[in-house]
Amino acid sequence: MWFRSLSKLGASLALALWLAPLAIAKQTNHDFALVDYCPAGFKFNEHSVCKLDSIYNTYKSPHNSGVGGLKAGLPELRDGFRPEVIDLGRYLFFDPILSSDGSLACSSCHDPELGFSDGKGRAVGIHGQILERSAPSLWNIGFFQRLLWDGSKASLEEQMLGPLYSELEMGNTPENLLKTLNDNATYRAMFAEAFHSGTGTSANTNADTIRLDMVYEALTAFESSLISLNSRFDFYAHGAHNALAPSELEGLNVFRSFVSRCGECHTPPLFTNQQLAIIGVPEPEDRPFDPGAGATSGIPEQRGGFRVPSLRNIARSAPYMHQGNFETLRETVGFYNKGRGHAVPEDESLLIHWHIWDPNLRDEELDRLVDFLHALTDEGFMPEIPMRVPSGLPPGRAIKAQALTVRTP
Ligand code: HEC
Ligand code: HEC
Repeated sequence: MWFRSLSKLGASLALALWLAPLAIAKQTNHDFALVDYCPAGFKFNEHSVCKLDSIYNTYKSPHNSGVGGLKAGLPELRDGFRPEVIDLGRYLFFDPILSSDGSLACSSCHDPELGFSDGKGRAVGIHGQILERSAPSLWNIGFFQRLLWDGSKASLEEQMLGPLYSELEMGNTPENLLKTLNDNATYRAMFAEAFHSGTGTSANTNADTIRLDMVYEALTAFESSLISLNSRFDFYAHGAHNALAPSELEGLNVFRSFVSRCGECHTPPLFTNQQLAIIGVPEPEDRPFDPGAGATSGIPEQRGGFRVPSLRNIARSAPYMHQGNFETLRETVGFYNKGRGHAVPEDESLLIHWHIWDPNLRDEELDRLVDFLHALTDEGFMPEIPMRVPSGLPPGRAIKAQALTVRTP
């Protein structure tokens, strides 16, 4: 008996010796070596996973206390991933191999250069299909407890099944996604490296097989690494009094005031309280009324409700609201000034949030609000946009809206 297992050991040793140089070659020869250090803003904890390192973590007050309190703490972040897993997620995010025909990556609709959105009122899916809503920014998305405009998804993993497998978005199937990834030797090596699978002396040929949960985890890890918390507003909040220009400071004061009430819903530091609110934004012309949360939660009182969006990097992600209803920030803040529920269709009786009223802000105050919103821009932790991805396909980028408009002579 021992003789047989010895010879088995010998065989697997030989196999391991034969495989070892191959494994090294795999790791060094492809250009997709995964980094072993945490992204900017994160540091290793005692378990060698990356945790957010932010001054905000020293502020204890709950994030939803008060109107625009400066030293408010952050909600919990979905962090704690190994750097290799985060970096693998970065390649997956930009790789159109995730769509059924190789035409769309996550980054085609969530383009880092457009605030991780796409510059369009309504996103464009596979075969040019126009979706119902606009692609939101993904900055700080790892802090969110409810996802999508209508707040109907509870985790990043759950949310991504939508775009991956919807016939309107990336049109893939779990089976096809797994097959294309497993057919790619570079990805197999990268997944093995990131998840410590397929290493050692195991002769099990399935050891480096990519599983769906690994794909979802890597994408989640990358998404959760998109942190923007170092804007001029933040320096001001941490005590640098000169960080905001006078016009921006005026804007902050309007934003925090009991007249405008912006800070009640767009609560610092994330500039959202993550609640659903019914504010009655008018749909773009010829578009049917969007019932928002009312359609997905099954609660009739939530008709017309949307999750309060974060305003971080808001200057980068025009147009605004759930269908790109407004082109500019000035137009967007102007909406809040025209009387409670003024934009609701006549045949709708929505339960407009009581903070949406007629604040009667002067034009200059609206201008200062816009100035302030610009002080929320910080892309200092922008991840590196890969020039090449393991599939060999061109990395996904948003097609600029101008390129789509038909020019009339
Ligand atoms: C065809 C364009 C498109 C593609 C491709 C796409 N998305 Fe999106 N994404 C959207 C749109 C549109 C929404 C908003 C949908 C809604 O709320 O109804 C969205 C919403 C999200 C949200 C929720 C954001 C929030 O504020 O709650 C996350 C997270 C997200 N996408 C991640 C991804 C990931 C990861 C991928 C790749 C697997 C991906 N998306 C691919 C268009 C796209
Ligand atoms: C009652 C809660 C509430 C209050 C008060 C409020 N907002 Fe909003 N805000 C929302 C919701 C909900 C949305 C998304 C609505 C939609 O898409 O239909 C939104 C969207 C926005 C957007 C567009 C975000 C994007 O990603 O497109 C901006 C900018 C904005 N609000 C600024 C302000 C300002 C400035 C004020 C104060 C004048 C304010 N908000 C007051 C709830 C609120």
